[in-house]
Amino acid sequence: MGKVYVFDHPLIQHKVALMRRKETSVKDFRALAKEIAMLMGFEATRDLPLEEVEIETPICKTKVNMLKGEDIAIVPILRAGLGFVDGMLELVPNAKVGHVGLYRDPETHQPVEYYCKLPYDIEHRRIFVLDPMLATGGSAVAAIDFIKKRGGRDITFMCLIAAPEGIAVLQEAHPDVDIYIAAKDEHLNENAYIVPGLGDAGDRLYGTK
Ligand code: PRP
Ligand code: URA
Repeated sequence: MGKVYVFDHPLIQHKVALMRRKETSVKDFRALAKEIAMLMGFEATRDLPLEEVEIETPICKTKVNMLKGEDIAIVPILRAGLGFVDGMLELVPNAKVGHVGLYRDPETHQPVEYYCKLPYDIEHRRIFVLDPMLATGGSAVAAIDFIKKRGGRDITFMCLIAAPEGIAVLQEAHPDVDIYIAAKDEHLNENAYIVPGLGDAGDRLYGTK
């Protein structure tokens, strides 16, 4: 079973609290999403492999550790996953970026696919799937299904807020996937929104409501 990592870092907790507040502006919400992605990404990339390389400083030759040509793909789930991309790219600027487009049907809450474009060599890449909200888990499971169908294997899922229901569904469907969560919330309401949550992440990120 993949690990579930819930962050207890005070900076992350504080920034998530700011994002939850309904009066937080679109501009601040976006900036906070980027900052949290960087803080989470720092930990989620902890096990990237290193290799010893000989370099020359102005003083002498020496051996140093550098990232071992690890090829990374970042895959946001549209729309709201886009809010995490810039923060992750600050950490791993050479990563390639794929996109999976899904929206939840308002009646059934089932994910509906509308777009999928991944790096051509996705099967050789370490993949970070990004989406701020893990509610029923339907969108995360469907996105990871697409990625696996196209050959992706080494997958980590990163989200801002998760409901226990969504974590269980994702673990059941994809037990090989590690899950990084900034905050684990209480439950889903009758409209499958996370409680207390932060509302509709896409609308808050783009000001569409
Ligand atoms: C939100 C969110 C997730 C999904 C989570 O997207 O960004 O993708 O809901 O819900 P689930 O776990 O129940 O599937 P939404 O469908 O609102 O689309 P949007 O990002 O385009 O607004
Ligand atoms: N999608 C969101 O954006 N927010 C929720 O609370 C649940 C699904």
